[in-house]
Amino acid sequence: MIRASLDKQPHEVASMFDDVAANYDLTNDVLSLGQDRRWRKEVAKAVDARPAQKILDLAAGTGTSSLPFSAAGAYVVPCDFSLGMLREGKKRNAWLPLTAGDATRLPFRDGVFDAVTISFGLRNVQETDTALREMYRVTRPGGRIVICEFSHPTWAPFRTVYEEYLMRALPPVARAVSSNPDAYVYLAESIQSWPDQPELAAKLQRAGWAKVAWRNLSGGIVALHRGTKSA
Ligand SMILES: C[S@@+](CC[C@H](N)C(=O)[O-])C[C@H]1O[C@@H](n2cnc3c(N)ncnc32)[C@H](O)[C@@H]1O
Repeated sequence: MIRASLDKQPHEVASMFDDVAANYDLTNDVLSLGQDRRWRKEVAKAVDARPAQKILDLAAGTGTSSLPFSAAGAYVVPCDFSLGMLREGKKRNAWLPLTAGDATRLPFRDGVFDAVTISFGLRNVQETDTALREMYRVTRPGGRIVICEFSHPTWAPFRTVYEEYLMRALPPVARAVSSNPDAYVYLAESIQSWPDQPELAAKLQRAGWAKVAWRNLSGGIVALHRGTKSA
């Protein structure tokens, strides 16, 4: 069983997700205490997908994060570099155009998407800044980005309780439900070392995105960042 380290070597990250693919969605539900469903609804609102729009759902895994955009009538392209996750997605939603691709070298032309989005994926990409620039490249002028990612609770007492959950409670629960519990040790560590809300906003701006803002969900356990590509 592979567990990625914090230097996020792409082959280790992809293998780790290959390993957890079969149980990934179930484990997510359990470990987030069902909160993931609410977070996905908020992502759908922020992306505001419309019929006939083209949406890139990057690091889409099994495609679960892509379903709300498709339900809204948009043409969604789920893209991921873990073939294990894509295969699992194909079993469940064979009609989705699941596409193999690396976030740092996207297999799409410039300006083809109305919106690009990434849920719980950016933290796993080794070269975050390159991925943000690639997402900018494939978005049309006037198009938008929405990033849903674990972040840092803003109220200090809650942050302490949450960090205890991440480091102490999550690993034993993961041992009970996951096919690769070590992957969830990586999850906890990668969340703790991830940039906070203002830092991620600054990265978006440096990659060229305008009108950057964010909204905290569940007290900042998750943050939704958004931005626009100037027309
Ligand atoms: C935690 S899963 C998120 C899946 C899905 N978006 C969701 O919300 O359930 C993270 C995904 O990021 C993918 N990933 C990590 N680095 C990537 C990269 N450089 N290019 C493409 N996908 C990547 C992994 O393969 C994995 O499927």
